[in-house]
Amino acid sequence: MQQVFLMSSEATPNDVSTAGTAFPRLSAAEAAAMINDGATVGFSGFTPAGAAKAVPRALAKRSKDVQSRGGQLKIRALTGASTGAALDDALADAHAISWRAPYQSSKKLRKLINAQETQFIDMHLSHVPQSVGFGFFGKIDFAVVEAVDVTRDGRVYLSTSGGCSPTFLRHAEKVIIEINHHHAKRLAEMHDVMILPMPPFRSPIPIQHPLSRIGTPFASVDPRKIVAVVETDEGDGVPPFTPPDAASEAIAAHVVRFLVDEMKAGRIPPDFLPLQSGVGNVANAVMAGLGRSEDVPPFYMFSEVFQDALVDLMENGSLLGASCTSLTLSDAQLRRLYENMDYFAPRIVIRPQELSNNPGVIRRLGVIAINTALEVDIYGHANSTHICGTTLMNGVGGSGDFMRNAYLSIFVAPSVAKGGAISAIVPMCTHVDHNEHTVQIVVTDQGLADLRGLGPIERARAIIDNCAHPDYRDYLHNYIDSSRMGHLRHNLETCFDLHRNLMATGHMLKK
Ligand code: COA
Repeated sequence: MQQVFLMSSEATPNDVSTAGTAFPRLSAAEAAAMINDGATVGFSGFTPAGAAKAVPRALAKRSKDVQSRGGQLKIRALTGASTGAALDDALADAHAISWRAPYQSSKKLRKLINAQETQFIDMHLSHVPQSVGFGFFGKIDFAVVEAVDVTRDGRVYLSTSGGCSPTFLRHAEKVIIEINHHHAKRLAEMHDVMILPMPPFRSPIPIQHPLSRIGTPFASVDPRKIVAVVETDEGDGVPPFTPPDAASEAIAAHVVRFLVDEMKAGRIPPDFLPLQSGVGNVANAVMAGLGRSEDVPPFYMFSEVFQDALVDLMENGSLLGASCTSLTLSDAQLRRLYENMDYFAPRIVIRPQELSNNPGVIRRLGVIAINTALEVDIYGHANSTHICGTTLMNGVGGSGDFMRNAYLSIFVAPSVAKGGAISAIVPMCTHVDHNEHTVQIVVTDQGLADLRGLGPIERARAIIDNCAHPDYRDYLHNYIDSSRMGHLRHNLETCFDLHRNLMATGHMLKK
């Protein structure tokens, strides 16, 4: 076994005085060999950005080998959010995950979760670090964290995401660091790391502006816990966005018009409010639309994920700065950022997810949150996660952190999916992630329903008339008219007929 000291270029005399043992440099296979069946492993990664790569891939291979000899090697996997192919896909492919939290977007893993082979804990992402700290998930056996550098005194310079890595490093019994040479060491200039103390010792979080910095540029670990350093050179593998389709463009246009009108009405200040936008192509189209609009002043983001469209907006001056927990950028966009760090580094702050998604800070800053739902019901409850109430898509992610605490909570969705077979507007959601008390504005390609100040039946009519696809409007109005009278009107015998039709015939409307 080779011993190695990896010294940061920012090394100080402090590094030397606290120097302990050298870190063992191992291959990914050697490091993965330390992780046994039943272990709880906290992996870095928030989206594919900064996700551990070599060790989970080697662990998946080892699990397959163990299984081929009649044994079992399954882990309990914790991350910041979704991950890259080398983690969730590889481990799912090997049937090596018995338990998973807090979010995923892997088709392979989704299959295991929906078959009940993997237990999945779908949770608000801001809660993950404190749940680990409180011991809600039990002992964390290993942290496997991607970094650009580690010093002998235990400073870990994270790569493209903050996520839950600082907390995993603090609480795990053993630590494996993947040093990824693909990434720029100057990422340290963007990271701002702080772990909240345990209650009742929490004081106000001094983030007064999206770009406030309150912590250190590195995460800390007790160097005696580092059992392996694995060196890699591999990109995050974030796919580039496809150009927005017509529905996304229409949604973006409605959102932009609404926000401009709110500003003219004095409900958004002239220098705007910070924006959060969810994952996916609709969100990307909305951000691009805001950047193009001459009526929207240059703005800040207080968001979770820094996506491709934002690089262009920042370069052309429409986006003044962004707080996030991950740089979820295709390789081409990430290169542009690395090549111009003097410009980008002061304008981007990467935080741990308990701060990027912190409810108190979101409320303080007056964030305008825009997220995508699978379906919204006529009273404004939103389902982001479970198709027909049973089949998991991805998870609630950070949407609850932002929507519940935002100044304006805007849900977007195409009015129909699968060529019109599925309506995004339904009488009753089959699963509720965000309730009517949270959801203020609903937008589809058809139009926008502003629900603020409306009673239930007014909300219902506004959503149907403005957001439902014309093919579904009569059905939805008739549903209300034929339902039991009350503060809300519902018919418990027919409220899921559209979903039942879909499951029986493949189309929500009976032909
Ligand atoms: N019922 C069944 N299927 C539906 C559906 C519905 N009501 N609405 C959409 N779908 C299908 C689409 O047809 C598509 O299927 P395909 O993959 O076979 O083509 C799939 O669901 C994804 O839809 P798409 O329109 O491509 O969605 P997206 O990429 O914009 O993602 C969510 C939409 C809701 C899945 C995604 O935004 C998500 O996971 N949200 C929850 C987490 C979140 O909000 N994170 C951000 C927080 S900061």
